[in-house]
Amino acid sequence: MSTSVDLWLATIFEEVQPLFGKGRVADYIPALARVEPNQFGMAIAMVDGRHYAVGDAHVLFSIQSISKLFTFVLALKLIGDDIWQRIGREPSGNAFNSMVQLETEHGIPRNPFINAGALVVTDILTQRYAHLDLALLNFLRRMTDSPDLNWNKEVAKSERDTAHRNMAMAYFMKSFGNFVNSPELVLDNYCRQCATEMSCTQLAQAAIFLANDGLDIGSGEQVLTSEAARRVNALLLTCGAYDAAGDYAYRIGLPLKTGVGGGIVAVIPNIGTVCVWSPELDAKGNSLIGGYALERLMQLSGWGRM
Ligand code: DON
Repeated sequence: MSTSVDLWLATIFEEVQPLFGKGRVADYIPALARVEPNQFGMAIAMVDGRHYAVGDAHVLFSIQSISKLFTFVLALKLIGDDIWQRIGREPSGNAFNSMVQLETEHGIPRNPFINAGALVVTDILTQRYAHLDLALLNFLRRMTDSPDLNWNKEVAKSERDTAHRNMAMAYFMKSFGNFVNSPELVLDNYCRQCATEMSCTQLAQAAIFLANDGLDIGSGEQVLTSEAARRVNALLLTCGAYDAAGDYAYRIGLPLKTGVGGGIVAVIPNIGTVCVWSPELDAKGNSLIGGYALERLMQLSGWGRM
């Protein structure tokens, strides 16, 4: 039986068709440049356990910066508010890979979702986990009940071979005393986390605890306290789309995290989570069709009105 959610997804699927070809697939990581651009998937997981999907919602894609959301959650669980000694919580207003603020701000990145901040998060986790890739995979496998979930070796190597700017940032922060491990080791872990492959349905499921006061529905695990989940959502709203965060808040108004693989995971508190994927990006490195699809979903559903 079709529900109104199915109808909204079908409408959005129709509406995005003329938008293919208007953005550009990320090409700074050679392995990502080969992804077929004309793909679109969208999945919704509701806190009451219902789920919905349209298009390529079951196709695996490179989650890229969406991994920063999950590594940040793991680091918060590990060291709590001590994390704010090493990272700020303000929007940067700059590109995701910008390093201009680091010099005047003493090697403290503006927030955990720009690359500099995510590298510090991975540095924190590298101190604790001998095999961070497995710790992250185990968490994501638990949240999605998908034992086969993995990272893609070719994508990780391709990014690692071209990670000059991230490496420079890591060394720069080390010069300020804000980096503990060797930048090489942290970059290995960072490139693996970015190369994790998941589908829209899996990502919507993995993030559902953020819509549900920190409690994961499938596993029954209290991933974060309700207070911590609310705070993660606040950071996602203000910093999750980099220098497009203000525009995204205006158009969509949800806590969300984007990735250059073309995925976006969004949280609708107390209702559910949405993941949309389409590989072509806009000028700021966020999925062009993904942003449109989320904006339309919010218009059609009326969810999230304050
Ligand atoms: O650090 C990088 O360059 C990437 N692997 C991740 C960047 C990313 O996904 C930015 N998001 N829009």
